[in-house]
Amino acid sequence: MAVKLLVVGGGKMGQALITGLLSSKWADPDDLGVIEPNEARRTQLAAAFPELCLFDAPLADSVSSDGGALLAVKPDAAEGACRVLGAIGVKRVVSVVAGMPTARLEVALGDGSIVIRAMPNTPALIGKGVTAISGGEMATSADLAWAEEILSAVGTVVRLPERHLDAVTGLSGSGPAYVFLVAEALIEAGVLSGLDREVSRTLVTETLVGSAALLAQGDASPESLRAAVTSPGGTTAAGLRALEARAVRSAFMEAVAAAAERSRNLHR
Ligand SMILES: NC(=O)c1ccc[n+]([C@@H]2O[C@H](COP(=O)([O-])OP(=O)(O)OC[C@H]3O[C@@H](n4cnc5c(N)ncnc54)[C@H](OP(=O)(O)O)[C@@H]3O)[C@@H](O)[C@H]2O)c1
Repeated sequence: MAVKLLVVGGGKMGQALITGLLSSKWADPDDLGVIEPNEARRTQLAAAFPELCLFDAPLADSVSSDGGALLAVKPDAAEGACRVLGAIGVKRVVSVVAGMPTARLEVALGDGSIVIRAMPNTPALIGKGVTAISGGEMATSADLAWAEEILSAVGTVVRLPERHLDAVTGLSGSGPAYVFLVAEALIEAGVLSGLDREVSRTLVTETLVGSAALLAQGDASPESLRAAVTSPGGTTAAGLRALEARAVRSAFMEAVAAAAERSRNLHR
């Protein structure tokens, strides 16, 4: 049996992409095959997508793909999964495996294989992710367009040379965690200032959503948006000075650099 796309690993990211591909109409359920060795996960996927073709990993030789495969397994399972894919004739793979270079997956897939590496982030789970993609040595512009179509199902896609993907991991890959940390801190700050916790949560969440929406309009830079709420000698200026005194800007720079460095060293 040959499907349009074989999804290898039906975990959180695999399921997010399946959801996106089906709701964007890129694929019908019977266009997708999913290889997922975990029985409990297969049961959950079958409940969420009754028409999906689900396979246990050892039965993978009963399915192949005309278009290629989407690799969404944990890093330690990635090369083994690619060897299985190579053995069943899959030659093109888009991988969301964090930190895993295209060259290593190309070797595992076998001669003449094509690998596109992608780094999505968790808002992909609700179709609002941002993903950077990079083609390996053999990837053509048609292969990148194919990968871009797939990842577009869960948000925005940017194309970058592979040497930048560790920086992307440290910035937008880990980025949601930085934003959630800021949210936690602001909610606590509201509580410290005497607000009810639920009220503080609502105020902080809507402030983040509204500010992100203003920024996403793209007409104004973050600097000008910040200046617009900072009147001379006013309340916001006093708050910003306290943040600058704690070197918050530099702390974010160090956070992104540390995460990128960790990504670089993951598969050495
Ligand atoms: N979640 C994110 O936000 C995010 C963001 C960027 C990149 N990623 C990358 O996406 C990949 C998947 O992450 P995740 O969060 O979706 O992990 P996850 O929820 O653990 O899903 C991985 C799934 O793959 C299954 N699996 C293991 N070996 C397999 C094999 N040989 N063939 C087929 N399936 C296999 C696992 O089963 P078992 O549980 O039995 O092992 C599990 O159900 C990771 O490499 C991660 O770096 C994730």
